[in-house]
Amino acid sequence: MARRKKIYEGKAKILYEGPEPGTFVQYFKDDATAFNAEKKATIDGKGVLNNRLSEFFMKGLTQIGIPNHFLKRLNMREQLIRQVEIIPLEVIVRNFAAGSMSTRLGLSEGTALPRPIVEFCLKDDKLGDPLVSEEHIIAFGWASQQDLDDMLALALRVNDFMSGVMLAVGIKLVDFKIEIGRVWENDFQRLIVADEISPDSCRLWDVETGQKLDKDVFRRDLGSLTDAYTEVARRLGVLPSNVTHATKPTLIN
Ligand SMILES: Nc1ncnc2c1ncn2[C@@H]1O[C@H](COP(=O)(O)OP(=O)(O)OP(=O)(O)O)[C@@H](O)[C@H]1O
Ligand SMILES: [Mg+2]
Repeated sequence: MARRKKIYEGKAKILYEGPEPGTFVQYFKDDATAFNAEKKATIDGKGVLNNRLSEFFMKGLTQIGIPNHFLKRLNMREQLIRQVEIIPLEVIVRNFAAGSMSTRLGLSEGTALPRPIVEFCLKDDKLGDPLVSEEHIIAFGWASQQDLDDMLALALRVNDFMSGVMLAVGIKLVDFKIEIGRVWENDFQRLIVADEISPDSCRLWDVETGQKLDKDVFRRDLGSLTDAYTEVARRLGVLPSNVTHATKPTLIN
């Protein structure tokens, strides 16, 4: 059997050529990195959980009409996605101060922000993904003004969706990061949500206790990352162990 072609291997995922033109297979690894890959570990089960969770969130986005790259889950670690031209920016939405925003602005972690704040960072590991302004983005041609407007609107819609889904299971969405890509439909370009949405790319705090249920558990050595992600999956009803159960026909009275 011919080996499939690897398109790209990143820190958390591998992209393979997909079965149809314009598709990729996205494989979720168990590798965890933080602080621009200065801290590394392999976390048993992380890839399986993130594959499931990203599927869950992307399907939810589709259901409310937010375009994204997810096509279908293939197996425990892989999903079929639409190939996009990734815009080289990380789009961050913050509802509460935490992480680099707290450091930069001297705000204690958890401070409620006056409104959701969208930040852009240049995707460049060598530079440590620096924060950039809209002026930089336009001047250097990373995206157009129209793209920026579309990215802001997409990011805020994703924020509303994710905040609601999380609040429903007792979790506060502190912040998150998405990547956005271009797809071409005839002569028109459209921006869609790509990459992943998972506890690797969100800050999630238990509403009652403030317990962290995201990658900060790894960054700050707060315990088992698998336990934290499993808890998120369990609350959302997307644990891998539920799968066979959930796909069986059920009797409705
Ligand atoms: N639908 C898509 N089409 C094309 N590329 C994608 C798509 N979704 C995600 N990607 C890209 O695939 C890669 C996923 O790998 P991973 O997240 O492990 O990368 P990474 O180590 O974070 O590095 P970087 O994101 O800086 O390239 C990323 O480069 C991401 O931008
Ligand atoms: Mg990545």
